[in-house]
Amino acid sequence: MTELTVQALQWTGTALKVLDQRQLPDTCRYDEYTDANGVAEAITTMRVRGAPAIGIAAGFGVVLSAYQHYSANTDGWRQAVQADMEVLAKSRPTAVNLFTALDQMASALAETDATPATLLACAKKIHTDDIAANYKMGELGADLLTGAKGILTHCNTGALATGGYGTALGVIRSVYDRQPLPIYADETRPWLQGARLTVWELAQDGIPATLIADSAAAWLMKSGAVDWVIVGADRIAANGDTANKIGTYSLAVLAKQHGVKFMVVAPTTTIDWAIDNGGQIAIEQRHQNELLPACYLTEGSLVSAWNPVFDVTPADLISAIVTERGVVLNPSEHGVRSLQ
Ligand code: MRU
Repeated sequence: MTELTVQALQWTGTALKVLDQRQLPDTCRYDEYTDANGVAEAITTMRVRGAPAIGIAAGFGVVLSAYQHYSANTDGWRQAVQADMEVLAKSRPTAVNLFTALDQMASALAETDATPATLLACAKKIHTDDIAANYKMGELGADLLTGAKGILTHCNTGALATGGYGTALGVIRSVYDRQPLPIYADETRPWLQGARLTVWELAQDGIPATLIADSAAAWLMKSGAVDWVIVGADRIAANGDTANKIGTYSLAVLAKQHGVKFMVVAPTTTIDWAIDNGGQIAIEQRHQNELLPACYLTEGSLVSAWNPVFDVTPADLISAIVTERGVVLNPSEHGVRSLQ
């Protein structure tokens, strides 16, 4: 089993340490957060990003809120924590793991004899459950890849994006442990999760990777170098439609054209059982300054940018969804609901 060297989040006992992913790969710096507002801001500004990592961070944000309010107000502390949970819920809209984690924390908070220790136990469990799910998905996904020639991945789905090990990147680690094979990573414009995070993270663990421009994906597939695309997810609808980093849908269309198989790897905390299809997923739009060259950011500029940061891949373009509860081949509502 690959030893992990990268950790996005560390709980100190009194604070949450967050690796500032905006600074990678040049600078590896942890910032300490001691209240829920700070954690919400770290999520919004993408110091911590990736669906499961966002959920875990929010869980510890609730713990920090409880620490702050419990001693100050032993009668009204629950309402104060609930208000902080509303702030955390507004930090990013697309990854359902955020809301799944907040629901779990809300249940812990509602226990009759709840204390901050109850919430801490819940947050720690969300974290350790995610790591366990990743290892399980790593093995299940690797089982599907026997004889694979090469893999293309998109965005960052590794230890940086999760509690540890990773979803799509966890499968890549697991299959690489069994049999080294070529790994390609898309740059993942505009935020460059692939260029700044994925190839860095793989290199930390001694796994070689080849970076490509997003626009080179079709030509890579045409060359025959890859027979699988493997990605993570931010929200999966009950019919298997999958929201993930912008550019995922293009890759799925290209994969179909070239006879390349397409795998989505995500824990069941990423499945939104309440929605029937991907049309109901809120797609985050981020500020145009994350895309536009600075010279266009002037008053009266005629140039603007459209910057959706996720897209939805229809289930019929997906060969397999891998979760910790099992694999759904050629996903349909029946198959996905069998995991519930
Ligand atoms: O905007 P980001 O970097 O938070 O987007 C991350 C992704 O789209 C990942 O693919 C997804 O969250 C899965 S991470 C295991």
